[in-house]
Amino acid sequence: MSSLVVFDTTYGNTEMAARAVAEVLTRHGPVRTLRAADVKSGHLEGVTLLVVGTPSRASRPSDAIRGWLAGLTLGQLAGVRVAAFDTRLDDDRHRLAAWWARRVGRAADAVLARLEDLGGEGAAATDGYRLERATGPLLQGETNRARAWAEALVAARERLGSERGDAT
Ligand SMILES: Cc1cc2nc3c(=O)[nH]c(=O)nc-3n(C[C@H](O)[C@H](O)[C@H](O)COP(=O)(O)O)c2cc1C
Repeated sequence: MSSLVVFDTTYGNTEMAARAVAEVLTRHGPVRTLRAADVKSGHLEGVTLLVVGTPSRASRPSDAIRGWLAGLTLGQLAGVRVAAFDTRLDDDRHRLAAWWARRVGRAADAVLARLEDLGGEGAAATDGYRLERATGPLLQGETNRARAWAEALVAARERLGSERGDAT
């Protein structure tokens, strides 16, 4: 039962959320946390839970995350539980970004859709961690929300595994 957390970051906020998620997953098995640019295909071997964290860029995933996802092959994530989160501007303070997200959706949803297209099995609804401004910081309490989300992922992986009789 091993996890891979893949992230991209410019200002460090998505990395901070990714590391909070990884910290929780570590209590339940081995975890590797990597920037998208550093992921090699071998890193996916034996992975039962793949979590991807992306900054929002015009409500889409960052170029590095999109590029990495584009390089994966159909079926490559068969049997892998997948989940995605993004970091985003706080809707209450950044109305334009909120309006745009309503029109085009959220970056994390685009990531999850791609992970599922590749054969992954969604482990949880996507989540987003809010920032004061584009460079951060994350709003108070957001890393704790990321930790709670990670706990839900672990529970989902265990539930899905026992339903299928997997050795988790
Ligand atoms: C070019 C650009 C476009 C962005 N577009 C959005 C956006 O559409 N919605 C949003 O909530 N945040 C947007 N942001 C803010 C990013 O979400 C934020 O910079 C990022 O999540 C911070 O993550 P990082 O510290 O890991 O780089 C944008 C930032 C940049 C630089």
